[in-house]
Formats: sequence, C-alpha cells, structure tokens
Amino acid sequence: MPYIKTPQEWEIPESQVTPESDYIDRRKFIKDLGIASASALLLSSSTACAQKKGVEKQLEPFQAQKLAVENNTRFTVERPITDEVVAATYNNYYEFTSSKSTVWKRVDKFITRPWEIEISGLVEKPMTLDVDDLIKQMPIEERIYRFRCVERWAMVVPWIGFPMKALLEKVQPTAEAKYVRMLTFLDPDMAPEQHNVRMPWPYFEGLTLAEAMNDLTLLVVGIYGHVLPPQHGAPIRLIVPWKYGFKSIKSIVSIELTDQKPRTFWNTLGPREYDFEANVNPNVPHPRWSQAKEWMIGSGDIHKTVIYNGYGNSVAHLY
Ligand code: MTE
Repeated sequence: MPYIKTPQEWEIPESQVTPESDYIDRRKFIKDLGIASASALLLSSSTACAQKKGVEKQLEPFQAQKLAVENNTRFTVERPITDEVVAATYNNYYEFTSSKSTVWKRVDKFITRPWEIEISGLVEKPMTLDVDDLIKQMPIEERIYRFRCVERWAMVVPWIGFPMKALLEKVQPTAEAKYVRMLTFLDPDMAPEQHNVRMPWPYFEGLTLAEAMNDLTLLVVGIYGHVLPPQHGAPIRLIVPWKYGFKSIKSIVSIELTDQKPRTFWNTLGPREYDFEANVNPNVPHPRWSQAKEWMIGSGDIHKTVIYNGYGNSVAHLY
C-alpha cells in the first residue's frame, strides 16, 4: 500500500540544522536502507528559517493557553526532548495532507472548540461531554514519552493528559466489553483530504480493553506546557507509547466499548502492512523495510529500536 510514505520520501524537517557527525551517521543509515541519495535530505538554510518563523507564529495562540500541571517524574526518557518547532512541523495528519512538513499550514480552518466527545457502547454510564468539562474532571499531568512512527522516525515529547483508565472507570465498562473503538471527527469542509474517497474516513482506531486500561495509555490535551495545536490532534488525542504512532488517533469525537475487535484505518487500507496490535518491535520488519533502527527527528541521531519502545516492563505481560 502506497499510503504511508516509503523510505525514499523521508525528509528532514525544514526547521532543522544537522551537525556533520549526525549527517555522516545518517548517511550510513540511509545507505543501509538502500536509499540512493543522502544529499536529497539536506535543505537550504533560508527555507529552514522561513519555516521556523512561520510555525512559531502559528503556535503563538496555543502557547498562550498554558496548562499548569505537574510533571510526573515516573516517566522520564534518557534522550533529549524534541524541539517544539521540529515536532510541530513534522506531522502525520492525513485529513489535511500527506505532506508532513505542511500539515501546520493546512490546519487553519480546523475549529477545535467547542468540542464534544461521546463515550458509549458496553458501559453502565454512557456520556457525552464537552472536552473542557472533561479536562476539569480528570487527573491531568505531564508525562515525557518516547514516540515512534512505523516509518522509523522517533521523537521525545512532553505530553499533557490523563490516563484513559480514569475516563473508563467513570463510564464503567460492562463485563462484556473487550475492546475500545475510537473515531476522529468528520468534516471535509475543515479537513479537505476527507474528500478523498480512496480513504475510509473518518479515521478509526482500536485497543483491547486491557491496553486501554494500562496506566501508560494517555488521552492527551496538551503538549510542551500548553493546549494542543491542531497539527498534533487538538483538542484531544490518544497516545499509546509502546505502539507505532498510527495507533495514536487524533481529534477524537467518539470512544465506544465493544465485544468485537474493531477494524482500524490503516489495517483496512493495508492489511499486510499495519496490524491491529502494532507494537514497536525491532524483530518484526515492516514488509517494505527493517524496523531494527530508528531516527530522531531534530537531532538526526540514530538508535537501535527497543522492543515495546522501551516500555516492556509495563506492557509485556499483555502479550
Ligand atoms: N490520527 C488521525 N485522525 N489522522 C492521522 O492521519 N496519523 C497517525 C497518528 N494519528 C493520524 C492520526 C500517525 S501515522 C502518526 S505517526 C501520529 O498520529 C503522528 O502524530 P504527530 O503528528 O502529533 O507527531
């Protein structure tokens, strides 16, 4: 399936300046990957500068909406936190565009408040809540997590949110509930790629109930100390740090408890390439590339991929 970009289309975010040593490492990595031209990854500094200024301005109104929360020190990452501008200019949000470096430019019509989220299905107490009312009721905190895309890029992000478990305990899943199915909004006027009939909109994802109840599974409402900007999935998204990034559905409007394994967006588009479980695993190659290594956006550093993205102590027992 050609939808998730293949390695030939990897780009360095325009906002990045790369040290020579990293460049050499990456050149070797790229050679290992069989990509013909490493020079294609270098970008002019004037483009980088314009991009950085543009996104800094786009981020300003969101940065002004600070979320004063404690950092939970149980969740630390030994690698440096990814620069905010780098993370905000290297996004996957196919509702707007498949070009990572331009998502931030395409989200200007995306209205993310007011926003309702419905929790339904096999629960004792179904409810529909305004996202800001929900945030007031939930134990919001900051957690620094590793984040790994199936395409092999990775970052380290200070997310702000609450464990999905806290919301599920509120709605009380019934004994029959085995899975959680989640949906993104549908509004092609705001998200032009939803006119693309080759994709099964709205984006949908799922977890087992045990995965959803795991302490690591976070419903995220903020990033870098403030509310989420639209390119990161405002106003509320999922983060499941031991799974490939496509499981972390953005801009959620519905959470439904079911007894049937839910279908998922990428598994529907490419069943051989994107499975339901999608746990980060260096030993299981993607059909078109190895998953043995990963590449940090921003620094360009290359690391060996770690099983469950380093969260095995918390999740290995689930499998
Ligand atoms: N959710 C929706 N609704 N639409 C998407 O295209 N892309 C997924 C995931 N959630 C996606 C989505 C993929 S492939 C990745 S890697 C992450 O979002 C990217 O999150 P980020 O842009 O905040 O880094």
